[in-house]
Parts: sequence; C-alpha cells; structure tokens
Amino acid sequence: MKKKLNLIDQTEDWGFIEVDAGGILIDISSDFCENFSIHKKDWLGVYEKEVIKVTYYRKRAKVLFGVVFGYSCLIRVFKMQEHTIYRVIVRQEDVDHYEMVSFMNSLDTSKMKKRSTGQNRYSFEEIIGEGSAIEHIKELAARIATSNSTVLLTGESGTGKELFAQAIHGLSTRKNNPFVAVNCAAIPDELFESEVFGYEAGAFSGAKKEGKPGKIEMAQHGTLFLDEISELPYQAQGKLLRVLQEREVERLGGTGSKNVDIRIIAATNRDLRTLVQEGKFRQDLFYRLYVFDLKIPSLRQRKEDIIPLAHFFIEYFNEKFGVCVKFIDSKLQERLLSYEWPGNVRELKAYIERGMNLVLGDTLTIDDLNISPNVSTDVKKSTPTPIQSLEEEVKCTEINAIQRALQEANGDRTLAAQKLKIHLASLYRKIAKYNLK
Ligand SMILES: Nc1ncnc2c1ncn2[C@@H]1O[C@H](COP(=O)(O)OP(=O)(O)O)[C@@H](O)[C@H]1O
Ligand SMILES: [Mg+2]
Repeated sequence: MKKKLNLIDQTEDWGFIEVDAGGILIDISSDFCENFSIHKKDWLGVYEKEVIKVTYYRKRAKVLFGVVFGYSCLIRVFKMQEHTIYRVIVRQEDVDHYEMVSFMNSLDTSKMKKRSTGQNRYSFEEIIGEGSAIEHIKELAARIATSNSTVLLTGESGTGKELFAQAIHGLSTRKNNPFVAVNCAAIPDELFESEVFGYEAGAFSGAKKEGKPGKIEMAQHGTLFLDEISELPYQAQGKLLRVLQEREVERLGGTGSKNVDIRIIAATNRDLRTLVQEGKFRQDLFYRLYVFDLKIPSLRQRKEDIIPLAHFFIEYFNEKFGVCVKFIDSKLQERLLSYEWPGNVRELKAYIERGMNLVLGDTLTIDDLNISPNVSTDVKKSTPTPIQSLEEEVKCTEINAIQRALQEANGDRTLAAQKLKIHLASLYRKIAKYNLK
C-alpha cells in the first residue's frame, strides 16, 4: 500500500546546484554534496541533463519534478539572466509520480489561493512593531474597533494605514460582513459617483442596463474604507456627507434612497486641515470624519521596528519563494537602520523582496539589494539617437521615468508616485495616457 504523502509539510532544503546559460554545472552547494553523497569536483562541468532527469516541469509554479542521483526530487527553479539555480525542496526514495504531479498542481493553486484571500484580512497580531509608538496606536485602534465611530487614519504613504483599517474592521462586530476599499485617487472624477454611489438603469449612456450598486451599497453592514480621501472630488464630498448624516444612499439617476448601515474608515497622507483652509476640502465633511484620528508614525520615527519588520518580510518571502533565509548581515542591518525610508514600510517590503529574489545562501546581504548595473551611465556611453521634437523627447523621458519608478517600486503605484514626487492620481492619469503596463 502506498503511503499518503503530505508534501506541503515536508519541504526542506537539500541544497542546490547552479548551471550556466548553456546548462553546464558551475556550482554545487556543500549541503547538496553531503545530502547526495557526491564530490563537487566530479560533477562540475557536466551537463545538467546528466544530473537531473526531468519528468515534469511546471513553469508557472517554477518547480520541477525529476530524479537526482537516484532520488525523486521536487525542485524549485530560480532562473536568472545568466544562470539557473535548482534547489531541491523535497526528496523521497520512492514517490508516486502522479501524487507528485498533483502536489505540484496544488502548489500554484490552492496554497496560493489560500494565502491571497487570507491576505486582505489583517489582524492586529500581523501589524509588526514592538516600539512604544506603534504599540500605543495599536492599543488605541483596538479600543475604537468595537465602536461604530468613523475613524480617520493619517500618516505618510506606506505606514500601514490600510493594514490598520483592515485590523479595525477585523476586530469589530462587522467582521463577517464586507470590507470594501475605495481608492479615491485612483478613480477618475467622472466615474467617481457611479462607482461609489451606484446608478440606476439608464442613468447615463454606456451604463449597464440593469443599473449597478455602488461601493457604499456593497459595504452594507460592513466597513467602507475611503483611502486617499483628500482626493475625493468636491461634488462627491457633498454627497458623501449626506450619506454620513442621513445614513442613506441614492444612486445616480435614482428616485428613491436606500438605508445604509456602514462604518467609515478614511485615510489620508495629506493634511486635511490645510486643504480645508485652502477651500479644497469641505469643512463639514472634515468634522464628520475627524471623530477619532489615529496618526501612524513614519518608519524613521520608529527605527526600533525596522529590523523586526525586515525579518517579518523575510519570513513572508521565504514562504512565497520557497527559500530559507534566516539572517541579515551586519552591514545590511546598518544600512537598513540608517536609511530614511521615505516610502516607509511599503518601501522596506519592496526592498526586501528585491533581495529575496537574488539571495543565494541563508543570509541576506547588502549585495543582494544593490541595483546592478547602473543603467543611466550605460546609456550615456552609447551613441545618442537623433533628436526628435521637444514634445517627443519630453514624452519619452516621462515614460522612461515612470517605468523606472514602477520597476524600482516592484509595480507598487503608490510607492512609484512617491518616488516620482507626483500625486498618485496623476500617475494613474499618465499610465492611462501612455497606455503603460
Ligand atoms: N506594521 C506593519 N507590519 C507588517 N506589514 C506592514 C506594516 N505596516 C505596513 N505594512 C505593509 O506595508 C505595505 C504598505 O502598507 P499600507 O497599509 O498599504 O500603507 P498605507 O495605506 O499607509 O500607504 C503593505 O504591504 C502592508 O502590508
Ligand atoms: Mg494606502
């Protein structure tokens, strides 16, 4: 009788082999040599095909199943530009091929799915920070979570405002009802009302025949999270105020209104008071929102949280990438502690992610995080293309800068906007304008 495999609990690190672009073995880790009882010098220079007999390769999950020195192995594949690392994560003496295949299928479906749905439900335990600054905020947030009051979260971008909003929701009596997030900066003005307030059949040309509920209705009995509330179009501010006062919503083109039971959590990284003084934000709405305000400190104001956060993200990416990093070397620690972190925790997370893509051993070092080779100097050395119109040149430069910022920010638009020192809404506009990915 075949024993039932529970491979998920059996992943371990058996070491790795590294091959160059031509498939030639160029390195073997010492734990690999030990585990497979081989001598490194006997195998360097041979073709990977002689060592790994691949029976199944699942490209999307970046894993392959094959036989290595007589053992059935599950191997994670890390493809870099010039070389590939094969890291053995499961080793069995005899494994049923079909079981292995079904396990591999589950790798990029069930496990990932579980994690990604779990991801938008943070609780306070998952908000990392032991320093007194963040502990104090966590305590306050937990206290107000159970009330129904509106909460205004303020703090620089990337400090964890959305995380707090979700944690507050998760601790409230509404926790089994929806948490609906609206990013006020990301929705174009002309779509805002229909998105948030919904519309009735035939409200405008291009509207769905049967009408559509807005985010407010979708959040019924739950929490509506209004992110970047400072970007709420002025007209919509008045409509939102009515929702907050009357607890009713009227769809666009509608005749009647519906009762709504929602809790509002709003967030902003701008000073709403100043915007009120400048006449850009309605004072009456401001006072409605300003019931409880929670100010999340920037990362540079709580340096004691940097290293614990870094370890937390290392653990997160260890699981995600199937690697096993345990340490941060001292030079890198110094660097993490001395850096200013203008993008706060979001930037730290992106920084660690970049390193985790490149790291080889069990220690994250400063070299793993350096952005190699310097693109701009390379460009300067090569011959310039003939000049186009100023308009074209400016456009190219703009596209280039946006793409670089997005790349540096690992696709995170908020962080990219910050790096570019432009507003998120204008980044969205430019991305749409230039049709960028
Ligand atoms: N204290 C924290 N512990 C763990 N992760 C955090 C913490 N603060 C922020 N993050 C992570 O950093 C990223 C940015 O957080 P987010 O809540 O979106 O920030 P904000 O809304 O203030 O811009 C998210 O991936 C979030 O999970
Ligand atoms: Mg945010």
